[in-house]
Amino acid sequence: MDITSLGENTRSVRAGEQLDRTVGGVTTPIHTAAAYMAAEGVDGAYRYPRYCNIPTQAAPAEKLAALEGAAAGLVLASGMAAISSSLLAVLTTGDHVVLQADLYGGTHRFLMAELARLGIGFTLVPDADPTTLEAAVTERTRVVYVETPSNPLLRIIDLEGTAAMAARRGLVSMVDNTFASPINQRPLELGFDLSIHSGTKYLNGHSDLNCGAVAGSKSLVDAVKERAVNFGQTLNTYDCYLLERGMKTLALRMARHNENAQAVAEFLAGRKGVAAVHYPGLPSHPGHALAKRQMRGFGGMMSFDLDCPPEAARCFMDNLELVLEAVSLGGIESLACFPAVTSHAKMSREGRLAIGVTDTLVRLSVGCEDAEDIIRDISRAMDAATIA
Ligand SMILES: Cc1ncc(COP(=O)(O)O)c(C=O)c1O
Repeated sequence: MDITSLGENTRSVRAGEQLDRTVGGVTTPIHTAAAYMAAEGVDGAYRYPRYCNIPTQAAPAEKLAALEGAAAGLVLASGMAAISSSLLAVLTTGDHVVLQADLYGGTHRFLMAELARLGIGFTLVPDADPTTLEAAVTERTRVVYVETPSNPLLRIIDLEGTAAMAARRGLVSMVDNTFASPINQRPLELGFDLSIHSGTKYLNGHSDLNCGAVAGSKSLVDAVKERAVNFGQTLNTYDCYLLERGMKTLALRMARHNENAQAVAEFLAGRKGVAAVHYPGLPSHPGHALAKRQMRGFGGMMSFDLDCPPEAARCFMDNLELVLEAVSLGGIESLACFPAVTSHAKMSREGRLAIGVTDTLVRLSVGCEDAEDIIRDISRAMDAATIA
């Protein structure tokens, strides 16, 4: 059976499975061995978990590759493991990378704290598009890196145009595809070299696991794997099992996330007391037309700016009951947070404000509950905080 020719629900459920042929089990067993009796020099033999080549690791990695339309996939210990190993798979001292300015805070932190120490230069491009990104390319640039939709302002970057620019300039193109998931966006089909995920979010989908993943060509994924093996960023067997189990319902969950988020965004857009709603599914979003072209669904993430003093915004958060105040995203339960004091807390206030992360910006990860219940909870909390 050629799984890649089948639909995305089928691929979510079945791709990559390493069925238990010894007893006829219909799921991938958790292989606990940390040592395998493979003879030296046997290509592709199972050997050692840190080498990222045990069957429990292969299952979610192959599932991701099938969903992304990639030749190869790899699962790792966190999204940051995936991001750091991907960048360092290509970049070395003296090289340069061009990135969009509004990135996930942890990625920004990695650039500031680690790349500079390694003597790798970087340029952060505000209002990134293929033209502004290209303008920052120097003769030392090796990588162009984007995140779309971006965290937390849901900015949309033109993937096809950026990939074409990268190919023309001989750069490796990488995209953080966490917010979209491979159900809503397949960057490799649009010419990107590497799609990166915090698997902690939609891939696993149940807020009970920290993991990361990449998908791309075999040679590039092998280069990422080499870094990850050396840095010890392997995902352990129990977490691989959880990740594979979570991914089986990815297509199902994303359909619900997309539907619920659209309803919540439309409600917020018409609600007094909301200064702005950032959701690519709204026609008023500046990236709506582009998102419609390059995404299959607009996703479950949004942010909105409350038109009130910070104390009232805090009061709103305190009054949410169904929606939980928590960091992270992409799980089946709805979560809200203030990016200013969570994902972007390490940035300077001026830096944050410059990219649009205000003190009253709420990031909302819309879950798989009933949309009416989520909307009622938000509306009631706004009333309680007298935001109107
Ligand atoms: C867009 C994005 N990329 C990467 C990461 C990092 O993932 P992890 O926390 O799994 O290392 C996050 C975490 O919030 C994220 O939101």
